[in-house]
Amino acid sequence: PLMVSPQPSPSSRGGVCLSQDELKKIAAYKAVEFVQSGMVLGLGTGSTAKHAVDRIGELLKQGKLKNIVGIPTSEITRNQAEKLGIPLSDLDDHPILDLAIDGADEVDPDMNLVKGRGGSLLREKMVEAACKKFIVIVDESKLVSHIGGSGLAMPVEIVPFCWKFTLKRLEMLFMEAGCVGKLRRFEGSGDPFVTDNKNYIIDLYFDKEIGDLKAASDAILRLAGVVEHGMFLDMATTLIVASKNGVSFTNK
Ligand code: 5RP
Repeated sequence: PLMVSPQPSPSSRGGVCLSQDELKKIAAYKAVEFVQSGMVLGLGTGSTAKHAVDRIGELLKQGKLKNIVGIPTSEITRNQAEKLGIPLSDLDDHPILDLAIDGADEVDPDMNLVKGRGGSLLREKMVEAACKKFIVIVDESKLVSHIGGSGLAMPVEIVPFCWKFTLKRLEMLFMEAGCVGKLRRFEGSGDPFVTDNKNYIIDLYFDKEIGDLKAASDAILRLAGVVEHGMFLDMATTLIVASKNGVSFTNK
């Protein structure tokens, strides 16, 4: 990847220490600078992408952007965009998008991602796979040397039918990496978390790195009962990272 050195951001000016949310906002606003009037845009999901959607709404309202069509990656983002007055459509009517902007849970040095800790991985992957450009926006805490090796969850969306069976099959696939799967549940009620597509999510945790990511992806997708997983391999075209030292851009 082509790395462009950090540009000073407000986070590094005057010794001001910005919060993680402020860094997310800086990355999001930088990404929106790439949005032009007339574009069909993939609108991401999560606390980082939310800032980008807010900014697009603001620029539309100010008349600085015109004729934007947004394709939301979740019902939450659809509701947010509707409130902001962003005209919306879907992949049936717009199968090719100009640009998508979205956050990520983990980003490795090759710009492979883990997504879906917010639960929207399937629609995110469908929309972002249909984009000419996909800008990933993160604060520096999301950078990892290997995805799936951080001890954090790697989400897999599955059908609810016999979910325990699918969970076991997933664990068996990655036995050597010490994989443990957990059904995602709503805090409080303890009921299974249900995605926008009425599916469940299994969060996989690994003791060791999973090694060949493409082989892991293929193996997961071959399991009947699996709908999609949260590894986004070779999909991002630009990475924007906001850190206390400034904002960096990496293009693939
Ligand atoms: C949702 C996602 C989000 O992009 C990811 O979880 C990052 O979220 P946040 O910007 O809140 O850290 O993949 O499914």
